[in-house]
Amino acid sequence: MNEQSDFASPPPGCPAHAGGDATQMDSFRTPLYGEEWAADPGAFYAYLRQYGPAAPVELAPGVPATLVTEYAAALHVLQNPEDFSKDSRRWRDFNEGRIAPDSPVLPMMAYRPNAFYADGAEHLRLRQAVTDSLARLDTHRVSRQVERVSSYLVDQFSERGTADLIEDYTKLLSLLVFNDIFGCPADAGNRLVEGFTKMFDGVDAEAGSVLIAEALAELVAFKRAKPGNDVTSWLLEHPAKLSDEEMIHQLLTLIGAGAEPMRNLMATALLIMLSDERFFGGQYGGALLVEDAIDEVLWNVPPVSNFGIHYPVRDVDLYGVKLPAGAPVVVSFAAANADPSLSSSRQTLSKRAHLAWSAGPHACPAKDPAQLISIAAIEKLLNHLPDIELSVPVSSLTWRPGPFTRGLVSLPVRFSPVRRVRPQPAPASASSGASGQKAGGKPKGGWWSSMLAWWRD
Ligand code: HEM
Repeated sequence: MNEQSDFASPPPGCPAHAGGDATQMDSFRTPLYGEEWAADPGAFYAYLRQYGPAAPVELAPGVPATLVTEYAAALHVLQNPEDFSKDSRRWRDFNEGRIAPDSPVLPMMAYRPNAFYADGAEHLRLRQAVTDSLARLDTHRVSRQVERVSSYLVDQFSERGTADLIEDYTKLLSLLVFNDIFGCPADAGNRLVEGFTKMFDGVDAEAGSVLIAEALAELVAFKRAKPGNDVTSWLLEHPAKLSDEEMIHQLLTLIGAGAEPMRNLMATALLIMLSDERFFGGQYGGALLVEDAIDEVLWNVPPVSNFGIHYPVRDVDLYGVKLPAGAPVVVSFAAANADPSLSSSRQTLSKRAHLAWSAGPHACPAKDPAQLISIAAIEKLLNHLPDIELSVPVSSLTWRPGPFTRGLVSLPVRFSPVRRVRPQPAPASASSGASGQKAGGKPKGGWWSSMLAWWRD
C-alpha cells in the first residue's frame, strides 16, 4: 500500500482550481482537514511540495501552521532544539487570543507538564523517567499479556463469524495491555478504557477526559501507597521525583500517545495483510511476514502522520522558507517518508530510515514495545482465525479526519465462526445481541474487570 500520489494538481478547496497559483497567494493556506483531505492526503503532500521544503497550511479552521514536507528539512527541525522549541507556551496565535477555546487541535497542542512539551534539562528529566521505566519492562511478560488479551477479545466475537477489527480488536487491545503494564486495579482500569475510548472516538470526549483524569489520579495515589511491579510504580520511584501532577500528565501521554497510534498501526497493517497478495499468501507459507506489513505502514502510512510540533525561538530561515518566532511548525512524517529525493532503494535497504517514530531528542521512546505488541497481536489474531478475510471492498473503507494521525474508521471482516473458549457472561444490556453482547458493546462492569474475570475462570 502506498498512499503517496505523484501528481501535483491542487487539492480540492484550493483557489488554484479557479485558475490562480495558490503558491503565489500570500494568504492561502491548504486545509489539512475535511473529507478530501481524509480521502487522499498523498495528493495534498504532492501539491504542497511546490512551495519548497515547507508550506503554509491550516490545521483546523483558524489555526495556521507551516508543514515541513522534505526529509532533510524535517530532520533539521527535529534535531535542532536550539532553534526549535517544543514548548507550546511559545505559540503566539494562542497567547494573543486568536485560537478558539474549543478548537479541535487544542487537546494535542495545548501545553502540559510532560516530556512532549518540554525542552533542555526539564525534557531530559521527564524523558529519562519514561525511558528508564520502559526499559524495566520484561518482554516475556508483555508478550504473555498480549496473548491473554488477544485470546479474550477474540473469544468475545469469534462465534459471530464477523467483526470490525478496530471496534472489536485493535482499539481495545492496546488499552487492555497497557492496564497490565501500568498496574491498573480493576475499577481504575475500567474507567481508563472507557475514558480513552470516548476520547478517541470523539463521542462524549469531555466525559471521557473526566473519567481519565479521575482514574489516573486514583492510580497514582494507589501506587504511591502500594507500589508494584509496573511502569507507574517505576515512574514514581524514579530519581526524577515526579510530582503527582507530573505523574498524571506523564501517564496521560504514555497511554494516550501510545494507544491511539497503536490501534492505527495494527489496523492498517491488517488491512495490508488481508488485501495485498504479497501478504495474504503468507498465512499459508512463503510470502511476506507481519514485520514486513508493519514496516510498510511505518514508511507509507505512518500512524502519527503530521506532528513533532515545534515553535521557532526566533525568526528562522529553513532552506529559504521564513518561519516566524512562535508560529507552529508541524513535521509531516508521512510527506518526509515519501520525499521523492529519497531513492526507492532506501526504503528496501534501510528499514530504519523512516520518520514514523520521529527523530532527535523527542523521538518515540516506546518504539520497541509498540512493535512487539503490534506484531504479537496481529500474529495471534491470524492464528485464532486462519480464514479471516475482508468483508467489504478496500475502496469502500474510509479514514478518520484530522491533521495529526492516520487511521481507518472501521475494518469489517468475516471468518468461519469459532466456538467460544469460555462461556458468555450475562448480557450487558437489553440491546445485546443473540450472543449476549452487542458488537462493540461494553461488558457489564467494564472491559478490564471482564478480561480479568475471563482469565481467572
Ligand atoms: C504505533 C505506535 C506509536 C507511534 C507511531 C508513535 C510515534 C511517536 C512519534 C512520531 C513521536 C514524536 C512526537 C513529537 O515529536 O511530537 C512520539 C513520541 C512519544 N511517544 Fe510514541 N508512538 C507510538 C507508540 C507509543 C507508545 C506505546 C508509547 C508509550 C507507552 C509512546 C510514548 C511516547 C512518548 C512519551 C513520546 C514523547 C517523547 C518526548 O517528547 O521525549 N508512544 N511517538
